[in-house]
Amino acid sequence: ATLNAALSDSHSEKDYQQVYNAIANQIREYDEYDGAIGFGPALVRLAWHLSGTFVGPVGCPHISGGSFGGTIRLPKEASDPANNALENARWVLEPVKKQFSWISYGDLYTLAGVTAVQEMGGPKIGWRAGRKDLGVEYASTGKLPDASRDADYIRSLFVKRMGFTERETVALIGAHALGSCHVQAPVLPGATKSQGVGSGYTGRWTAAPNFFTNEFYRLLLEDKWTPKKWDGPFQYENKDELMMLPTDMALVQDASMKKLVVEYAKDQEKFFKDFAPAFKKLLELGIDFKGNKTYEFKTLDEQDL
Ligand code: HEM
Repeated sequence: ATLNAALSDSHSEKDYQQVYNAIANQIREYDEYDGAIGFGPALVRLAWHLSGTFVGPVGCPHISGGSFGGTIRLPKEASDPANNALENARWVLEPVKKQFSWISYGDLYTLAGVTAVQEMGGPKIGWRAGRKDLGVEYASTGKLPDASRDADYIRSLFVKRMGFTERETVALIGAHALGSCHVQAPVLPGATKSQGVGSGYTGRWTAAPNFFTNEFYRLLLEDKWTPKKWDGPFQYENKDELMMLPTDMALVQDASMKKLVVEYAKDQEKFFKDFAPAFKKLLELGIDFKGNKTYEFKTLDEQDL
């Protein structure tokens, strides 16, 4: 298995903090997007969908996918139905790419995920540079999870194929405190109508979908979830019209995953502590970063910006 070798990092931590700030300012600027959720959740999803195509050397000598080549920018990968509605996240980053044209798409999109988690009150995420844009022969499709499935399916993808522990897997899915599911992609700022379709699911997981919290686990355990009666795909709802996907419910239907849900529901600090390295690992799957340093960025608030 050959890992993608990172380019040596010719920019400084200060340069990347400038990119971080530009991304954070885009999130601030367009805070009315998607029913006033803003772009934060969409940027976390973009970073995850760029990275979560990874196929590790499990039972086959080659690795593929992952964030290295920035291939979600290419029509072949962008048009994977799993990536529906993500063109909006790429739209909001395009001015940042214009301003910092030296950064690769893989670095930009992963840094955007880190920025969004931190700006929404989540933990600090260590981040490294060095990804290089690759062509369409490296684009991946059909590798992202199907939300209609169960715990064994989640294990087959996250543990077996991508190499996460079960703990890392449950921690990562806690990002579903953020954002919402869409039948239609949210309308872009300045536009009058939606430009495309979403996943087909609908609703928010939590009442505060632009704050990074452990609310997803608390609601999963403490609320009563019943099948939603509608024409769309099978999903759950509670009395407040919040939602859960079948794969979310799978985390409490499986005894060993449920233990972790209980732990994170009780202890947000523990969730943050586990999420941060798991998210860093996700963003770095398949890459050998050589000697490139890990950076930790300040939030806009911490810089009094
Ligand atoms: C949204 C499925 C894991 C972060 C969504 C949506 C689906 C989905 C169907 C709705 C998309 C839309 O209609 O716009 C899944 C499945 C997973 C999974 C099946 C694994 C079993 C993850 C992970 C992360 C993540 C690991 C991040 C670490 C998000 C975020 C959103 C989202 C932030 C909200 C996006 C927005 O508001 O625009 N996910 N997801 N998901 N997912 Fe996941």
